[in-house]
Amino acid sequence: MGSQGYFKVLIIFVIAFIGSTQAELQLGFYAKSCPKAEQIIWKYVVEHIHNVPSLAAALIRLHFHDCFVNGCDASVLINSTKNNQAEKDAIPNLTLRGFGFIETVKSLVEAECPGVVSCADVLALSARDSIHAIGGPYWNVPTGRRDGLISKAADALRGLPAPFHNLTTQLSIYGNVGLDANDLVLLSGAHTIGVAHCSTIATRLYNFTGKGDTDPTLDSEYATNLKTLKCKNINDKTTLIEMDPGSRNTFDLGYYKQVVKRRGLFQSDAALLTSPITRAIISRQLQSTQGFFLEFAKSMEKMGRINVKIGTEGEIRKHCALVNA
Ligand code: HEM
Ligand SMILES: *[C@@H]1O[C@H](CO)[C@@H](O)[C@H](O)[C@H]1NC(C)=O
Ligand SMILES: *[C@@H]1O[C@H](CO)[C@@H](O)[C@H](O)[C@H]1NC(C)=O
Ligand SMILES: *[C@@H]1O[C@H](CO)[C@@H](O)[C@H](O)[C@H]1NC(C)=O
Ligand SMILES: *[C@@H]1O[C@H](CO)[C@@H](O)[C@H](O)[C@H]1NC(C)=O
Repeated sequence: MGSQGYFKVLIIFVIAFIGSTQAELQLGFYAKSCPKAEQIIWKYVVEHIHNVPSLAAALIRLHFHDCFVNGCDASVLINSTKNNQAEKDAIPNLTLRGFGFIETVKSLVEAECPGVVSCADVLALSARDSIHAIGGPYWNVPTGRRDGLISKAADALRGLPAPFHNLTTQLSIYGNVGLDANDLVLLSGAHTIGVAHCSTIATRLYNFTGKGDTDPTLDSEYATNLKTLKCKNINDKTTLIEMDPGSRNTFDLGYYKQVVKRRGLFQSDAALLTSPITRAIISRQLQSTQGFFLEFAKSMEKMGRINVKIGTEGEIRKHCALVNA
């Protein structure tokens, strides 16, 4: 290679290096461009979460659905149009909540600094703040995410784990977004808060193999209770059940305690017992709430970095439900 060749290689490395350093979120990305943004979000979340603590579950789930489909780019918030069925209208959405809250938070931040703070960051920060405000873990949310332009229902179907997925399938879906078995077990710990619809476990309770049977991996006493007290028939689409009964608004070890008693609500929860590796990760969490919080924080920060758009990619949406005109 002549000196010109070396020069070209050098240029390529320099460009790649600049590219890679810019391809980073950073803590306090808005410190100069909108210094009050994070404080406005935290204040609003703290002031309102005590009226609706169940919102914390809604917001962290929204953030999760956002990140797993097209990266954390607020594509989950976009409304469908005549010509496009958006992520939020895909089956796994069914029960997503919290859209209005995010739109309100965004409008407060817009009033302070128009066109500066992305919906993806508003969602990531609101999710973190709401969990922290109900006494859950705190994690770093480096910012600088940009909002995506595309939201397709079909992508949500492909990218999201389903409650009937076994461990192999879940690991492969997580693997597709750069997350591992540890992240899977830790992030599933978010099921310590929130609720699910009976329809999600109807088959598990009433027609597991198509013979009117119940999933034998579900604790039989618990299954009977669910059937007699909560989900009274296979067609119940409206009744809500707590995933961690008795502490649906408390972020604690309750989920893992349920799972090891074979009382995890979904097959995907029960699946975490099917390998010694994931079982060991659960046992480790059960030793200390503080340890769980620290590990959960790490996995959340990792999740928040999935395929983010930065720099000049995407846009800063004005309304989270609408791509800018
Ligand atoms: C591992 C794969 C996962 C599966 C299969 C799964 C599935 C589900 C399902 C089916 C529901 C109930 C929806 C309904 O019937 O209303 C649900 C609720 C929920 N999920 Fe997951 N999830 C997974 C991972 C996660 C992760 C990674 C998080 C967050 C970090 C999360 C947070 C939540 C929360 C907080 C709720 C309650 C929502 C509410 O109260 O509105 N889940 N999940
Ligand atoms: C979820 O998608 C279904 C269609 O699959 C739609 O009828 C429903 O309104 C959507 N729910 C939300 C909250 O967007
Ligand atoms: C997990 O589910 C997938 C898809 O349904 C299936 O192909 C695979 O055999 C299952 N793996 C195990 C270990 O059950
Ligand atoms: C149970 O599953 C079988 C096989 O998929 C189906 O034919 C049957 O209609 C189901 N029963 C109910 C009550 O949905
Ligand atoms: C998005 O759709 C929701 C539900 O249909 C509606 O309430 C909201 O006003 C829409 N947002 C925008 C910006 O059009």
